[in-house]
Amino acid sequence: MPIFLDTGNLKDIEKYLKMGIVRGVTTNPTILLRDGVTGGLEGVKARTTEIARLISPLPLSVEVTTNDLQKMLAQAQELAKMASNINVKIPIHGPNGELDNLDVVRELEQKHDIRVNVTAMMSAQQCLLAAMAGATYVSLFGGRVNNMGYNTCEEIAKLRNVLDNFNLEAKIIIGSTREVLNVIEWLGAGAHFVTVTPSLLEGMIIHPYSKETVQMFLADAAKVEATADKV
Ligand code: E4P
Repeated sequence: MPIFLDTGNLKDIEKYLKMGIVRGVTTNPTILLRDGVTGGLEGVKARTTEIARLISPLPLSVEVTTNDLQKMLAQAQELAKMASNINVKIPIHGPNGELDNLDVVRELEQKHDIRVNVTAMMSAQQCLLAAMAGATYVSLFGGRVNNMGYNTCEEIAKLRNVLDNFNLEAKIIIGSTREVLNVIEWLGAGAHFVTVTPSLLEGMIIHPYSKETVQMFLADAAKVEATADKV
């Protein structure tokens, strides 16, 4: 089921969950900061627990807040044990290209049985290597890829093809969604999931011409209603 919500806002999650159009939630430190999380890791854990409970058994991705190897391992285990539907996000590499992160991915998946979502990826080849390291999810940042002048649809198609051909089980999440059109295009290109902000999801539902049509129906229904006592 293809749509995740990219937010830390409980009200928005509740709203779209009730409509049955959300199949999971993704967050990152930037999103949590924007959605009012304070209090360091404890604050992240508190919001994470609330979201995980709200959407259970649907999956929630939460990102580590450090790039220190040992701390990433410890924090990932701490986050994962808060609820059974939590996946831990690990960036593909450190801020200066440090390569420890894929070790962490492999260890968490293989030794600790923790589902990992490898994040902050901009190319099919990064995603392929994350999948080979054992990641459950690989997150490609489609909007950023397009902004760099590359074609996200082509990256997705290449990636899906190689994952399927070599029986790699990782599921592709496309994030960094900027336009309504991205969602259908990226799913069509082979993404397993697209994660969208609440405002983009609203934009997918509401169409000006649908508004006009519904207004016409209601106006005419009122005219029919006005003739009720004349029959
Ligand atoms: C995906 O999981 C990320 O949380 C997100 O979509 C990043 O998007 P941005 O490019 O808007 O930061």
